[in-house]
Amino acid sequence: MNLFRMVDVIEKKRNGEVLTKEEITFFVNGYTEGSIPDYQASAFLMAIYFKGMTAEEQGYLTMAMVESGDQIDLSAIEGIKVDKHSTGGVGDTTTLILVPLVAACGVPVAKMSGRGLGHTGGTLDKLEAIEGFHIELTEEQFVKQVNDLKLAVIGQSGNLTPADKKLYSLRDVTATVDSIPLIASSIMSKKIAAGADAIVLDVKTGDGAFMKTEEDARALAHSMVAIGKQVGRNTMAVISDMSQPLGFAIGNSLEVIEAVETLKGNGPEDLTELCLVLGSKMIVAGEKASSVEEARDMLKAVIADGSALELFGKLIEAQGGNGAIIHDTSLLPTARYQIEVPALSSGYVTKMEADDIGVAAMLLGAGRATKDDEIDLAVGIVLTKKIGDTVLEGEPLAIIHSNTENVEQSMTLIQKHISIGKEAVESPRLIGDMITG
Ligand code: URA
Ligand code: CA
Repeated sequence: MNLFRMVDVIEKKRNGEVLTKEEITFFVNGYTEGSIPDYQASAFLMAIYFKGMTAEEQGYLTMAMVESGDQIDLSAIEGIKVDKHSTGGVGDTTTLILVPLVAACGVPVAKMSGRGLGHTGGTLDKLEAIEGFHIELTEEQFVKQVNDLKLAVIGQSGNLTPADKKLYSLRDVTATVDSIPLIASSIMSKKIAAGADAIVLDVKTGDGAFMKTEEDARALAHSMVAIGKQVGRNTMAVISDMSQPLGFAIGNSLEVIEAVETLKGNGPEDLTELCLVLGSKMIVAGEKASSVEEARDMLKAVIADGSALELFGKLIEAQGGNGAIIHDTSLLPTARYQIEVPALSSGYVTKMEADDIGVAAMLLGAGRATKDDEIDLAVGIVLTKKIGDTVLEGEPLAIIHSNTENVEQSMTLIQKHISIGKEAVESPRLIGDMITG
């Protein structure tokens, strides 16, 4: 016998009341096993969308989703395991760089990553641009590799947070995706089930991000940090700009090259800076430094002495790829054609809409429009300008890397969504608030 009826739980939330842990767990378990139908779950999600949830309710929802499936046990790995999560962006190469960078400073990184969908890329796809690299390790192999080398990157295991999977699909078709409590608990449930002791969140804001305004990004960050605190995982968030793509490269193989360059100390300024900011937080959370200043110096040192790059090579070798790519990126897949995208007028780059540029890369084959699409690891876009730069008519704004000569659609999109004005503009502030709860 259930203690509750779903209709009463829906009504309570519809009236703006606060739900108990038991009521929320009743919903999550009932929906996951199928005893609560889609129509009641839909009404409930919509009630949450309009009435919100307290931090406590979000914590209960998160933990009910965590407990709906497997939880990864990382206790056999020595030290504090620190995970990082980005809410998704265009050309966001940070994970590829941060994993070896932070591991080289002594913090074990047991990373579970995802694939890209739509205009945002996924770390797993990028790593698979390295021939032979495989992302399937058993839990035992995963733990052993992190103990031996300090780092591993794998795909999400089959039965992590099934409640979130089922709810996310329903949210997708009931206009309830963009609810901050629902996003916060969805993201945090996956991070907690993946076993990290501490979590550093990179919450993106701007055109290319889920959260279009800084205010929403801050609210999401606060929600996630509060959930982490409630469930005993040290969680902090950095708000970062996604009004233009991060770095220059967008596309899988192209981003691996950019990651290698960044690990060598020759990376784009914004990408390098974001890695130093997030990496310092991870090292402090992992208790390998007592301040972010000290951590930042450690990160710079492992770039300068080549040890972070070497560790990236070891990660690649350990997971079946050719580690020689760290010294010779021409071993990575390359596209047949490189086509310049000329500026249509002279002036200053005033706007660079990251989501549309992400779509232009997707149309070339660098990303998936639907979950089952095949991607072309070699193709993508390398920007030659960023917001604030000057440009002359006919000068390239970007280089398209493509396996066909027919790139008109992508070229038009890029030209349309990189605005050129007569007045100089400042480049957008990369790092916004830091939220530590
Ligand atoms: N990403 C997630 O994992 N969950 C959401 O709800 C939104 C974005
Ligand atoms: Ca990039």
